[in-house]
Amino acid sequence: MTDHTLPTARLGDGGPEVGVQGLGCMGMSFAYGPTDADASRATLERALEQGVTLYDTADAYGAGENERFLSPFFKAHRDEVVIATKFALSIPPDDPTKRIIRNDEPYIRQAVEASLRRLDVDVIDLYYMHRRDPDVPIEETVAVMADLVREGKVKHLGLSEVTGDELRAAQGVHPIAAVQSEWSLFSRDIEAGVVPAARELGVALVPYSPLGRGFLTGSFADAEKDLTAGDFRRQQPRFTGDNATANAALLAPVRTVAEAHGATLGQIALAWAQQRARVHGLPVIPIPGTRKPARVEENTAATRIVLTEEELSLLEPLAGKVAGDRYADMTFTSAGRE
Ligand SMILES: NC(=O)c1ccc[n+]([C@@H]2O[C@H](COP(=O)([O-])OP(=O)(O)OC[C@H]3O[C@@H](n4cnc5c(N)ncnc54)[C@H](OP(=O)(O)O)[C@@H]3O)[C@@H](O)[C@H]2O)c1
Repeated sequence: MTDHTLPTARLGDGGPEVGVQGLGCMGMSFAYGPTDADASRATLERALEQGVTLYDTADAYGAGENERFLSPFFKAHRDEVVIATKFALSIPPDDPTKRIIRNDEPYIRQAVEASLRRLDVDVIDLYYMHRRDPDVPIEETVAVMADLVREGKVKHLGLSEVTGDELRAAQGVHPIAAVQSEWSLFSRDIEAGVVPAARELGVALVPYSPLGRGFLTGSFADAEKDLTAGDFRRQQPRFTGDNATANAALLAPVRTVAEAHGATLGQIALAWAQQRARVHGLPVIPIPGTRKPARVEENTAATRIVLTEEELSLLEPLAGKVAGDRYADMTFTSAGRE
């Protein structure tokens, strides 16, 4: 253990206590270009040493490959980790730009069995609906998820990219521990409906892509020029062409704040997300994704940075100025249905 074990926060009123920053594991198998299994394994171990206990995956990440990859780490540390995985989304192998969304009972039942098998555990700690199929009433989906809790297959329930109203309807069926949605200096649409609903209902917020998929760290500027073929970020409107150029220029105030703290840009983005917890009055557990041990140290260290009111004001207007949506198809998000 280091001298700086993370503080903890509760995943919803009845959920487990976890390190206040989790680890996004998606990039270890999927979406963000070439991977290095040894470096990823070292990253997982380093995260645990830092006090990270919430590990985020999904059955869609590499069509099950990410769950399989994480299984040995989870089994070696079963009592120390909180395993979060997801169902509802699949990507046809012949067209990686397409998404199929299913929220119906037969689909959920086969998905949970497949995830349990790949993870090779008896129970999933936090099971999320990854995306919403508007043709299936959310109450029906959550009723099936609640049955999985009663059957001992999953412990706690989560929802990803749901609207405030969908969250309220879901909570009427079974307690929801966490909402996972994109939230960062550049993506704040959820503050209108989802965040107030989560606070009101005692649901924790788990911001995904809190580093703006890496863009907020300054590690790439134009996805088409800087990232490899097949990298998912090349499909996202805000990371290519004129939008990318305009958005890279928006990082200037982040750089100013970072210099004042002797910190990196990414650390300021993470400190901002953590500080929104205080502004909105709810538990916030960001899950930055990385495959590099040194970056886990850098990212967890951000939990010790406190931004001043003046710095927060400097960062406040950024999201409103971002050019381009966060997905090519926004019906894929809560904002597309609000
Ligand atoms: N519910 C959903 O729909 C949904 C959608 C997307 C993601 N997620 C989850 O959220 C997690 C995090 O989101 P994300 O991975 O999309 O985006 P993110 O955390 O905003 O950014 C990840 C990117 O930033 C880079 N990075 C991380 N730390 C860095 C640092 N200190 N300095 C420079 N670069 C750094 C990573 O590269 P390296 O890996 O090379 O370090 C990776 O390319 C995912 O892993 C996944 O589990 C959920």
